[in-house]
Amino acid sequence: MAAAQNGIKEPVVDMLNVSIRYGSDPEVLSDIKLSLDKGSFHFLTGKSGAGKTSLLSMMYLALKPSRGTVTVFGTNIGFASRDTMALMRRRIGVVFQDFRLLEHLSAYDNVAVPLRVRGMKEGEIDKRVKELLRWVELENSMNKICSTLSGGEKQRIAIARAVINQPEILLADEPTGNVDDDIAQKLMKLFIELNRLGTTVVIATHSQELIGRYNYPRIHLENKSLRVFPALRSVLHEK
Ligand SMILES: Nc1ncnc2c1ncn2[C@@H]1O[C@H](COP(=O)(O)OP(=O)(O)O)[C@@H](O)[C@H]1O
Ligand SMILES: [Mg+2]
Repeated sequence: MAAAQNGIKEPVVDMLNVSIRYGSDPEVLSDIKLSLDKGSFHFLTGKSGAGKTSLLSMMYLALKPSRGTVTVFGTNIGFASRDTMALMRRRIGVVFQDFRLLEHLSAYDNVAVPLRVRGMKEGEIDKRVKELLRWVELENSMNKICSTLSGGEKQRIAIARAVINQPEILLADEPTGNVDDDIAQKLMKLFIELNRLGTTVVIATHSQELIGRYNYPRIHLENKSLRVFPALRSVLHEK
């Protein structure tokens, strides 16, 4: 807070000496250091089991580190109260690997949830939800109950729900794993547009296609540690 008042840029997410272990298993991540500037865009890579979901879970406040400190929006999540964390979560959009939609509700109602929580008027909600569902090519399925939809459709609903609030942080765990290439590109456009408006974005992906096509730095997890590779074009000094 004090740093922000002094005009010093604070990272949106800051991890220092962070380790994660589940129960008495060996550590999944050890002594991680990571700082995400406001408005940055990163891919998150690493083999299955490398710890991508664990790392994202700390960023969306669902998992506290076994050791070290994780600071989000300037608050140490190790000491934050439940109420504080609930308020912080409203500022974070998450696309879960397993979607976590409200299966008994329609596509429309799932996407409307973050706006209703904020108390937005239904007229405004209607406009925004329909516009976004049109973008993810679900305008014809918006009244269908989620449990009846395909994996690819659910993934697009999960993405629409995560971005509709224009969150300060967007975390997406394999967000294009279930959709065709043309839709994947459209979804990337959505993330890029959100980032252009100021959202800090982290996208976990296995897709070499996605990583190769878009010039963003990459957080790579391997052997319990983390490396950040800069965007390729900045390495090559391309314009
Ligand atoms: N809730 C959990 N309980 C026990 N082990 C877990 C749990 N979540 C993840 N793990 C283990 O931690 C490791 C990293 O998992 P995860 O973060 O899901 O990796 P990734 O997303 O890269 O596939 C794996 O070995 C996984 O089995
Ligand atoms: Mg995962």
